[in-house]
Amino acid sequence: MCGIVGYIGPKTATPLLIEGLKRLEYRGYDSAGIATMNGAGLESRKAKGKISMLEAVVEGSPVHGTVGIAHTRWATHGAPNECNAHPHHDCTGTIAVVHNGIIENYGALRQMLIQQGHKFESETDTEVLAHLIEAAMDDDPLEDAVIDALHLVEGTYGIAVISSRDPDKIVAARKGSPLLLGLGENEFYVASDVAAILEHTRQVVYLDDGEMGVLTRSGYEVLDLSARRVRKGVSRIDWDLDQIEKGGFDHFMLKEIFEQPQTIQNTMRGRLVVDEGFSKLGGLNLTRQQMLDLDRIIITACGTSWHSGIIGELYIEELARIPVEVEYASEFRYRNPIVTKNTLCVVISQSGETADTLAAMREAKRRGARTLGLVNVVGSTMAREDDGGIYLHAGPEIGVASTKAFTSQVIALALLTLKLARLREMSVVKGRQIAQAMLELPDQIQSILDRASEIEAIAEQFKNATNFLYLGRGYNFPVALEGALKLKEISYIHAEGYPAAEMKHGPIALIDENMPVVFIAPHDSVFDKIVSNIQEVKARGGKVIAITSQKEPVLEKLIDYEIRIPQTEDMLYPILSVIPLQLLAYYVAVKRGLNVDQPRNLAKSVTVE
Ligand code: M6R
Repeated sequence: MCGIVGYIGPKTATPLLIEGLKRLEYRGYDSAGIATMNGAGLESRKAKGKISMLEAVVEGSPVHGTVGIAHTRWATHGAPNECNAHPHHDCTGTIAVVHNGIIENYGALRQMLIQQGHKFESETDTEVLAHLIEAAMDDDPLEDAVIDALHLVEGTYGIAVISSRDPDKIVAARKGSPLLLGLGENEFYVASDVAAILEHTRQVVYLDDGEMGVLTRSGYEVLDLSARRVRKGVSRIDWDLDQIEKGGFDHFMLKEIFEQPQTIQNTMRGRLVVDEGFSKLGGLNLTRQQMLDLDRIIITACGTSWHSGIIGELYIEELARIPVEVEYASEFRYRNPIVTKNTLCVVISQSGETADTLAAMREAKRRGARTLGLVNVVGSTMAREDDGGIYLHAGPEIGVASTKAFTSQVIALALLTLKLARLREMSVVKGRQIAQAMLELPDQIQSILDRASEIEAIAEQFKNATNFLYLGRGYNFPVALEGALKLKEISYIHAEGYPAAEMKHGPIALIDENMPVVFIAPHDSVFDKIVSNIQEVKARGGKVIAITSQKEPVLEKLIDYEIRIPQTEDMLYPILSVIPLQLLAYYVAVKRGLNVDQPRNLAKSVTVE
């Protein structure tokens, strides 16, 4: 998500920091900032937009010194503007902090600090860190104050801190957000990503969670949060820059597929109340009574986001018993839809900028509906204009084919459903059962990813196919649509997703020995039904690739290739079953020699009608 770089040594810090930030721009950005120690005190500059904007600001109004920290932001709390850009400062202007991650208890900490007389300038969670360090700062070294502050914080962080009260030092600390120290010739770096410092050193020390790096002009040390020294090994980086930006993966799409154990955790973090089978959704902006009064929900979106919307419809109708309609945004905006004051219009969008979805949201608003955005990009137009929102926190998605945004959208819809359903008739026992199963999903996704080579082998068999059918039922019908879309987008193979039982009303005519048919057939409540559909395909010579969740003797003679996923609650299968389909599409496209991250004719964000 965001990026951090810091420098201490004999050289002027600014050009090194700006260059480091540019190397991190691929991770996404909406603003950037820099702070240096100029001998007399701290100087900082910030700018909204690309790093080149910050560069222009610094050119016009330079900051000086040989110690500094810098940050490129991809907003999570607070709009993407200059004020919310990092570094953040304490009241005295003697401390500067850059931060990646999310401080979950920042609301309570901010209140506490305001009561103690601290003045806040931004809307960010990060600013509490600067004030906490200020409150803890006495004549002891900076690292002691940082340790005291971090003991009060819940959530994730990778931070770098400088202070004019302990000027020849950078303190960096990590919990749940990557951070490393770079070791140069009489100079030291800190960075969230090795790309930022690769030009200057290949010797790095990776910090682990609960560790802190203290960089001075003469060396570095690593401490734990009890100020005890930790012995760390030095690693050598052999990758080139392109490999590093993609995290060692060949493509952003593959990197993003493999990020999903982490990204769905980020979507759930701080929101799932397992014991209560409930969710806390701070941005919903709906009173309990407004939620109880809802008589209709319209979900509107495009593409992959529309597919997650169909899963949302199934969730909400099944568990919260509120009627839901899912509409293509491009159709909704030109219809004459029935919208009442008790209608909630849920818009789903990775980018928050898709023209059709934005227009549909505005139309629903104009007709009196309340709007709720499930959006990934913080501060995007939809996120600014909706009445309430649930950010996905999936991090920047760069591959044009959406992957991690989809699973985060489904998680966000599950969280919304828990909230609405528990306010109505769903029991705590049922809610708890779903919440517990949700907690297991990251490890379950990882176990599928660990067997990616099996899916690659299947892709090898079908890389020259000209058509594919994807069939699923119930919660897995939208996954069939999503699997087909993924394949079409990046491999240019014609693919159709269908409800499995609908196949006999037409598409069955397509089936012959050249037709691969992907069945999403986990052991859920419609398993027996889908077995019949598999038999129908097999009887006509189709090649069956089945996604299953346990050994099924009944399928043994019917399927040609099996991809096993772990067992979960029926409603959560889409989050697991989509993973092999993303991988299948990816590997087929790679084997056809195609540009996976930028497929022809497609844009990441469709901002035109
Ligand atoms: O940013 P959005 O979620 O609003 O984008 C919607 C669609 O354009 C998007 O999902 C598109 O279908 C993707 N290329 C799918 O992989």
